[in-house]
Amino acid sequence: MKVVISSDHAGYDLKIKVKEHLEKKGYEVIVEGATSGTEPFSYVEAGQALAKDVLEGKAERGIAICGTGIGISIVVNKFKGLRCGLCNNEFMARMLRQHNDGQVLAMGARVVGLGVALNMVDAFFDEQFAGERHAVRVNDIKKQEEDLFK
Ligand code: RB5
Repeated sequence: MKVVISSDHAGYDLKIKVKEHLEKKGYEVIVEGATSGTEPFSYVEAGQALAKDVLEGKAERGIAICGTGIGISIVVNKFKGLRCGLCNNEFMARMLRQHNDGQVLAMGARVVGLGVALNMVDAFFDEQFAGERHAVRVNDIKKQEEDLFK
């Protein structure tokens, strides 16, 4: 599976560690966003680059990182068709897949430690969408996008 990972400067160090983790597991990883942890890089630009890669089919899933995860998750969720969840623990990352069919996991590099971050990444890739009643709700999100955000 192809994955895109993007961050601002605050998420740069964690991004590189997550990238290495995913590559060890055999994923093909596209890196977007900040190229260092010291030069300021907008989470807006980082989120936009990730969103475009997923929507254009260059990557199937995304991991979005900024200091809190808040800014970049807001940016990604502004793109029609993307469901990005800001998660702080493994349970949330698992539910993002199982209940919400999220394609993008967001996290805060100043919020979670490396162990929690990698556990979330693993849960996000291991878990499947449960469908059924959850599919009805995800479809309602899609309808909302059609009705309100034309
Ligand atoms: C950068 O200082 C910080 O504002 C950013 O990483 C993020 O936390 C915004 O939501």
